[in-house]
Amino acid sequence: MQILDGKVAAQAIKDELKITVAQRVIEGKKVPHLAAILVGNNGASETYVAAKVKACEETGFKSTLIRLEQDISENKLLEKIEKLNNDPDVDGILVQLPLPKHISDKKVINAIDPDKDVDGFHPVSVGKMVEGIPAFIPATPYGIMLLLEHYKIETKGKHAIVLGRSNIVGRPISILLSGNSNPGNCTVTICHSQTKNIKELCLQGDIIVAAIGIPGFVKTDMVKDGAVVIDVGITRIEDATKKSGFRLKGDVDFENVSPKCSWITPVPGGVGPMTIAALMKNTFRSCEMSN
Ligand code: GUN
Repeated sequence: MQILDGKVAAQAIKDELKITVAQRVIEGKKVPHLAAILVGNNGASETYVAAKVKACEETGFKSTLIRLEQDISENKLLEKIEKLNNDPDVDGILVQLPLPKHISDKKVINAIDPDKDVDGFHPVSVGKMVEGIPAFIPATPYGIMLLLEHYKIETKGKHAIVLGRSNIVGRPISILLSGNSNPGNCTVTICHSQTKNIKELCLQGDIIVAAIGIPGFVKTDMVKDGAVVIDVGITRIEDATKKSGFRLKGDVDFENVSPKCSWITPVPGGVGPMTIAALMKNTFRSCEMSN
């Protein structure tokens, strides 16, 4: 079993971006600028946004963190987005999800200028991705593709089982893995809460992408020998021995599943860091396209 180390692969991507950004500075060009909006104070969202801002600092990007109160009106948030849409210095806009219940995710996502949609959630970005046109790809599935690429994992003709059908991970990764690309060219099966024979389907998987948010869901009797297992789960589990009071647990029973795998991502340190590296790549691309 070998580890798909997201920290190593993400660092390689950030190092490359850092050099390219420094070159832009020498040439008198603008540096990429990411604007992140955080509504309320959801602990996990705070952590993710802080990591995105830190990655900007490390890579030489400019970042702006806009914090808004939990009870901000939908209109006020939409106005904020419009301002960022019209700010020529801002290359990428991300609104951290989930949003409070009184705000429509859809309206907010649709309000972002597709040219600045570095999360790749806007229908224009999704449409382009489905058509195979260069587009902003949502950071988590893009990060998974970059991880497979970094470790030169052979995907052509393989059967990939995707657990979960979310717009953020399950659906887009199924489209990317089935695309005529490398990585890609997989036969893809998507499983979800209504799928009847998940265990049997998983056993057919050369590649399993687990993105259902149920800690430890993928057990050893669901995985065939030599499978590549990508764990997207990051559930917080109470743990009094940790300073934070919790630890992260993936969707895969890592301890028992990992000995059977050819490759597997750890949690933490697998898909998480890749998500951030992918966001940085999207933001850099946006900057290059508009300047
Ligand atoms: N919440 C969970 N994942 C994501 C993501 O990739 N982008 C944003 N904006 N919010 C998220």
